[in-house]
Amino acid sequence: MRGIILAGGSGSRLYPITQAISKHLIPIYDKPMIYYPLSVLMLAGIREILIISTPEHINQYKKILGDGSRVGLKCFYKIQKEPNGLPDAFIVGKEFISGEDVALILGDNVFYGQGFTPVLREASLLKEGALIFGYYVNNPKEFGVVEFDKNTKVLSLEEKPSNPKSNYAIPGLYFFDEKVADLAMTLKPSLRGELEIIDLLKEYLKNDKLRVQILGRGFVWLDTGTYDGLLEASNFVGTIQKRQGLYIACIEEIAYMKGYITRKDVQNIAGTISNTAYGNYLEKISSDDSERI
Ligand code: DAU
Repeated sequence: MRGIILAGGSGSRLYPITQAISKHLIPIYDKPMIYYPLSVLMLAGIREILIISTPEHINQYKKILGDGSRVGLKCFYKIQKEPNGLPDAFIVGKEFISGEDVALILGDNVFYGQGFTPVLREASLLKEGALIFGYYVNNPKEFGVVEFDKNTKVLSLEEKPSNPKSNYAIPGLYFFDEKVADLAMTLKPSLRGELEIIDLLKEYLKNDKLRVQILGRGFVWLDTGTYDGLLEASNFVGTIQKRQGLYIACIEEIAYMKGYITRKDVQNIAGTISNTAYGNYLEKISSDDSERI
């Protein structure tokens, strides 16, 4: 399975921060935002990753992630000229997908929770249809919303409805089979002039090929599209990291745990940033063999 991180858009809701820098490079506590969705794809075992961003910002991502080999990945880059909507990721990325199954994650979504890695591993085995997640929220009007029955069979899908049929938002992480690029090409822009992810999901629903998996109460999904969202996400990451001394979304740690890079590689990276807490953390995890599950 391949992965796409959609990190374009205008970032207008975060003006003036986004005047000069891309929204997905704003720090969430101690790391650029894009580390969080990237770590999700890595935990799913996905190693070929396409980063899509705007003509102005794409080079900033290349600078940060390069060809991906530092963390055992293959990173590719594509420009989205205009924010034409989320399904546009599959049109821009058609060549990259080239007939494989694909996961899409939005560059501003942060996920965290015990048991998430097995969920991701299983999702990455998808061979047919599409998989979305459902997450109970207080403010469903602000998201895509999924309604389902007691057997979690999807009944309806709506984008930012004024009268939501459920409290279950659809987080920005989607798994699709290889048909997705062709289906995305058939979509028509909505009234707001964008291709809508909900319309793409409805194509799968129509053919009874859409599954929803519920992320339960102990799980954390944060949207960082507003100032408050940014602050809350930073506070959350800082709180957990200080309490446990374990990092969230440390891409070098994940690469090391997965065996993509060696202890020596981690130590070398740590050596180049030894005057930072991040460097000290890499030093610690590469010299300490105690169990961390
Ligand atoms: O965060 C989850 C929600 O994301 C879902 O529940 C909604 O169904 C989905 O439509 C989306 O809603 P948003 O209002 O958050 O979408 P937004 O337009 O803010 O875009 C989400 C991210 O994707 C944002 O970081 C910018 C990026 N983006 C967006 C568009 C439309 C692009 O890179 N290119 C685009 O064309």
